[in-house]
Amino acid sequence: MCGIIGYIGDRPAAEVIIKGLKRLEYRGYDSVGIVTEENGILHILKGAGKIDEVVERLALHRMPGKRGVGHTRWATHGVPNDINAHPQRDCTGKLALVHNGIIENFSELKEELIKKGHSFESDTDTEVIAHLIEEELKSGESFEKALRKALLKLKGSFALGIIYTEEPDRLYFVRNESPLVLGIGNGEMFAASDVPAFLEYTNRVVFLDDMEYAVVTKDSWIVKNLITGEPVKKEVREISWTLEMAEKAGFPHFMLKEIFEQPRALRDAIHGNVEAVKLVAREIANYDKVYFVAMGTSYHAALAGKYLFQRLAKKVPVVEEASEFRYEFEELVDERTLLIAITQSGETADTLAAMKLAKRKGAKVLAIVNVVGSMATRIADLTLYTHAGPEIGVAATKTYTTQLAVLTMLAIELARILGTADEDYLKKLESELRGVPDRVEEVLGLSDSLRELAENLKDRRDFFYIGRSIGLPTALEGALKLKEISYIHAEGLSAGELKHGPLALIEENVPVVAIAPSGKTLDKTMSNIEEARARGAFVVSLGDSEKLRKVSDVFIEMPKLDELLSPIPYIVPLQLLAYHLAVLRGNDPDKPRNLAKSVTVE
Ligand code: AGP
Repeated sequence: MCGIIGYIGDRPAAEVIIKGLKRLEYRGYDSVGIVTEENGILHILKGAGKIDEVVERLALHRMPGKRGVGHTRWATHGVPNDINAHPQRDCTGKLALVHNGIIENFSELKEELIKKGHSFESDTDTEVIAHLIEEELKSGESFEKALRKALLKLKGSFALGIIYTEEPDRLYFVRNESPLVLGIGNGEMFAASDVPAFLEYTNRVVFLDDMEYAVVTKDSWIVKNLITGEPVKKEVREISWTLEMAEKAGFPHFMLKEIFEQPRALRDAIHGNVEAVKLVAREIANYDKVYFVAMGTSYHAALAGKYLFQRLAKKVPVVEEASEFRYEFEELVDERTLLIAITQSGETADTLAAMKLAKRKGAKVLAIVNVVGSMATRIADLTLYTHAGPEIGVAATKTYTTQLAVLTMLAIELARILGTADEDYLKKLESELRGVPDRVEEVLGLSDSLRELAENLKDRRDFFYIGRSIGLPTALEGALKLKEISYIHAEGLSAGELKHGPLALIEENVPVVAIAPSGKTLDKTMSNIEEARARGAFVVSLGDSEKLRKVSDVFIEMPKLDELLSPIPYIVPLQLLAYHLAVLRGNDPDKPRNLAKSVTVE
């Protein structure tokens, strides 16, 4: 997730763009760049580093011109460095653009363009777009026609800001799956990923929808359909947010914003890993000894990965907390071992230590990471990125569900390679997975009812989360979410464990949250629910089977989908319940006491 902004008017464009980029810093901050135009010449300055550093180092505020676009990067393809920073340009140097999103088919497009004589500077997917437009312009078409033809070749998500010296009085902005909004000024126009970027100049906005583009001059704007080129009628709205609210897109906390970002983050995680997963799965298939290591929420994702690998690829990985692995498994790791480290930050000390141990012993190391260029990506032999974008809230939400999406894609591809599952079933699973962002969208609609449930439960002192099979990691993660931000004690456990001790703790009104998707263990989980209820528990069950309704005090009806995909949508109500309980108890969910976003010490 990156931040883009564009300006055209009578102010110095660089000044407006720098301020806007500062307001978008939470969307990404590993590198920064600006392109402006004056007298038909493009001026591009960009570099790796935080915004203030790069502005200072390159004197961005001194760039000439009254129109331009800027970018603050959260790397997805190509490590953070000066060349991979945006803007990216074509061969002629007349066209430059900034991009937020992920182009799934950029490798094949790049190969075709190289064959046609294009030379590339960067490792980014974004640069392909600039050369694609340049190639279409060779046919003598109008810029808009060339733009549309070029962009219709892209697969994936893209919000673009484009400047072309041959179109001296305008800028172009395009939206598909990544957000883009126009700011309507008097004698000046803005466009950005998010409203905060220009809110100090205007609160009149036009939100673009997918497959739309805008042609913007300092006094006019028009939105058109990218496929047909036909004008689209758009409403100008007035935003009443304060700037601080706007940075959270109107949400009261970053955590709630990030919970609601999950559909977009999941689409990026899926788009961004179609090719990479094939390569990595082939590597995993060569190893019999596979270890997952992670901590906290990422450990719960690893557990879900275990069930996915077992069920689909008939491969049983060992899952260990990194803090345990590094002391207990030293003698067991060798060159026949594959270690899969899962870490959002890529900086968790215990996880890095486990990875270094594995490397020392000759093992192959794969990392599943959110932060491009983090230490884990430099230790690993292979890295898969979750593309969730920056996660500001300490509690992991969108980074967890994107980890699950990547693990699901890996398990499916591994099963395909090993021939351990029916191809029709795998294709059905892949198709359902692409629909999971929409299922999550549906579940997000439950937020108000979960706030009411939180009102009802806010004074309880102990919660139990139970699940079976692939529902167990969801139970563990639900409990962790509650503990870490509401400070209410919670325990996640396998439903089958209840009778072996924990049932002694169940008494009148103790909340028991049951994860019960339809599948081979549903009936057993229902028996556990009834056992708990018989002792007075207040049962909240999540599932898609009507028969849960009569055994639950609260039944949260979930979308019907394959049990193996359930961890992604099923965690969303538990994230929301934890969030609302934290707020009701007067806590700041973004900054829970005693905790840090990344545990870089042991
Ligand atoms: C989860 O909400 C916590 N933020 C914490 O458990 C976290 O998942 C853990 O510290 C691992 O972090 P990592 O994914 O960055 O390695």
